Amino acid sequence: MNRIALMAALGGLFIAASAHAQTAPSPFPPGDNRDLVATNCTQCHGAQAIVQLRMNEVGWRNQVYNMVLRGAQIGPDQLEPAVKYLATAFGPGVPFANAAALNVSLPDGDGKNLVEGGCQLCHGLDRVTATRRTEAQWTAIVNRMAFIGSPVEPSQKATIAAYLSKNYGVPTQTAAK
Ligand code: HEC
Ligand code: HEC
Repeated sequence: MNRIALMAALGGLFIAASAHAQTAPSPFPPGDNRDLVATNCTQCHGAQAIVQLRMNEVGWRNQVYNMVLRGAQIGPDQLEPAVKYLATAFGPGVPFANAAALNVSLPDGDGKNLVEGGCQLCHGLDRVTATRRTEAQWTAIVNRMAFIGSPVEPSQKATIAAYLSKNYGVPTQTAAK
């Protein structure tokens, strides 16, 4: 092989390699308005901030409006298309690519099943158990999660908040009472 042919062959390899890099799978699944979200929603943080969460339409609408307040370049007529894409591609119960890594085993107790059933459709339980909080904070979080799409019944909220504050409460809480 002469030098020119070798360079041409290497050049071909290089082009093949970069074409391959460009077609690496997007973290955003196909769907109407994917490019709008994939482009405009990754200007300040990576795709991970989005693809690791699940929310219903109400939750994503809230999130998108919040992002626009922070400077996201989404025009008024693009808001609903972006929300529709997000709620479809990342709605409650859509499986996570790294599901095994998000697994947490919870301590036994009244409320454990409710947390397992209602709190890992949209993020890992790692997110639930990461931080200790007061019962008031747990109550507020459970209400917020129900608002954005957790299927917990109103009558189950207190059991969940009590279970979480028992196991993931603030240690000084009882002393301070
Ligand atoms: C102008 C910068 C900016 C753009 C553009 C932007 N975001 Fe954000 N985003 C932020 C900041 C800052 C935070 C962290 C603060 C927060 O959690 O509210 C964040 C956090 C998030 C989170 C993580 C919430 C959590 O608690 O884990 C999600 C989901 C999100 N953004 C979605 C989006 C979507 C969808 C878009 C496109 C509509 C978008 N972002 C565009 C600035 C931006
Ligand atoms: C419908 C989807 C959904 C379900 C179901 C859900 N969450 Fe969330 N959760 C989110 C989203 C989205 C965020 C990030 C935005 C936010 O904090 O509001 C989050 C954040 C959190 C956080 C971090 C909040 C913070 O302020 O740091 C905790 C803790 C949490 N969830 C607990 C729970 C518990 C407990 C349940 C079950 C009752 C639950 N989640 C069910 C969507 C959900």
